[in-house]
Amino acid sequence: MEIRVFETADQASRAAAILIASQVTAKPASVLGLATGSSPIPCYQELIRMNEAGLVDFSKVVTYNLDEYVGLSGEHPCSYRYFMNDQLFDHININKEATHVPNGQAEDFAACGAAYDEAIRQAGGLDLQLLGLGRNGHIGFNEPGDVFIRPCHSVQLSESTIEANTRFFDSKDDVPRYAITLGIGSIMDARKVVLIATGASKAQAVHDAVKGDISPRVQASVLQGHHDCIFLLDREAASLL
Ligand code: F6R
Repeated sequence: MEIRVFETADQASRAAAILIASQVTAKPASVLGLATGSSPIPCYQELIRMNEAGLVDFSKVVTYNLDEYVGLSGEHPCSYRYFMNDQLFDHININKEATHVPNGQAEDFAACGAAYDEAIRQAGGLDLQLLGLGRNGHIGFNEPGDVFIRPCHSVQLSESTIEANTRFFDSKDDVPRYAITLGIGSIMDARKVVLIATGASKAQAVHDAVKGDISPRVQASVLQGHHDCIFLLDREAASLL
């Protein structure tokens, strides 16, 4: 596990853009695992800028997002499909058909999750997985629990995650209680993992993920066992290390 600390959140997130652009330049048909939330927004802005400047070409890239809220269609402004189109895909030369987000409206989430995992396998696996970090140490929506769940699965969101994500909705009552998420299996199978964590609210989770025991109570701690994982942090998020 490599730790890089930057002065600001923007710098940490933009460093992720350089890693993604390098990956895509080295392998134009890269399979990228992508994240939503606040942390990757400056990264996506930098990728848009680099694409506009002709520095990186997404025309052959395939993407699989980590997660989606159960019950929200891709047209819902709070859905992760909407977020990805709005924050990245609509502004770069990617083939939209090659971008994937789990289906939050599936009738059978076990079958939907298995098909999502299988699609990633068929695509050759993830070359690079981008992650944010929950205040409770979650990655994707793999919430604190008793086990690491390998397959893509539906999950009940924890109170802490609902609280944290209320800022994106009109009220706490509007935050969906369930989501579908890539499991720890596909994340750990990614050839490279890049995690962005910024702000004081992430400091404890960063500490526990990096210095604590490997435990499903802090799902990100599993990354201690990944062979090529980089944490990109700002000073606040790194303050307890
Ligand atoms: C998003 C995701 C989540 C977020 C995490 C941090 O697709 O899977 O794990 O990365 O909740 O969110 P922010 O960046 O908004 O603090």
